[in-house]
Amino acid sequence: MASSDPNEGSSHEMPPYDWRATRRDFILKLGVGINSVAGALIGIPIIGYFVSAIVQKKQPTWISLGSIDQFPEEATRMAVFMNPYRTQADGDTAHIPCWVKRAHGENFTVFAINCTHLGCPVRWFEQSKLFLCPCHGGAFYEDGSHAAGPPPRGLYHYEHKVEKGELVIKAGVLPTLADPNA
Ligand code: FES
Repeated sequence: MASSDPNEGSSHEMPPYDWRATRRDFILKLGVGINSVAGALIGIPIIGYFVSAIVQKKQPTWISLGSIDQFPEEATRMAVFMNPYRTQADGDTAHIPCWVKRAHGENFTVFAINCTHLGCPVRWFEQSKLFLCPCHGGAFYEDGSHAAGPPPRGLYHYEHKVEKGELVIKAGVLPTLADPNA
């Protein structure tokens, strides 16, 4: 008697539908997708930060500290200038102090305020003729050379010139031990 089942005796039977495998597959793909998006969201800003640091290397720029008349001869005075690369988030830290020593006439030395040990601001003491660092006792002579304590070298100098009666310094990039002439 002939069978009524059309698939009977056929070698191409469909495997039974495994809904668990399909669901596992879907969850796996979903996980990979979410991880890829999360990785991109985290990674792109980080890559952008490093790339922009390379592409937009800040260059020092000339900035006036004002008339040379405000700096008496044979004296050291603090001057403050605005960071040319300031952003809104910088607030008051965009005001950068430095020490200006005027020997005589147009003979100036402009020192970065940062101690060459770990960067604390140094202060000038007229009586002792020393720059002293409050953090770890670093001391510098009046020409900025190292006198005592942990700093590995003297104070950094800013390149400077006198232009139309004003003292102008090359600023915008703070020197560091790795790049002392920045
Ligand atoms: S930061 Fe000035 S001595 Fe350490």
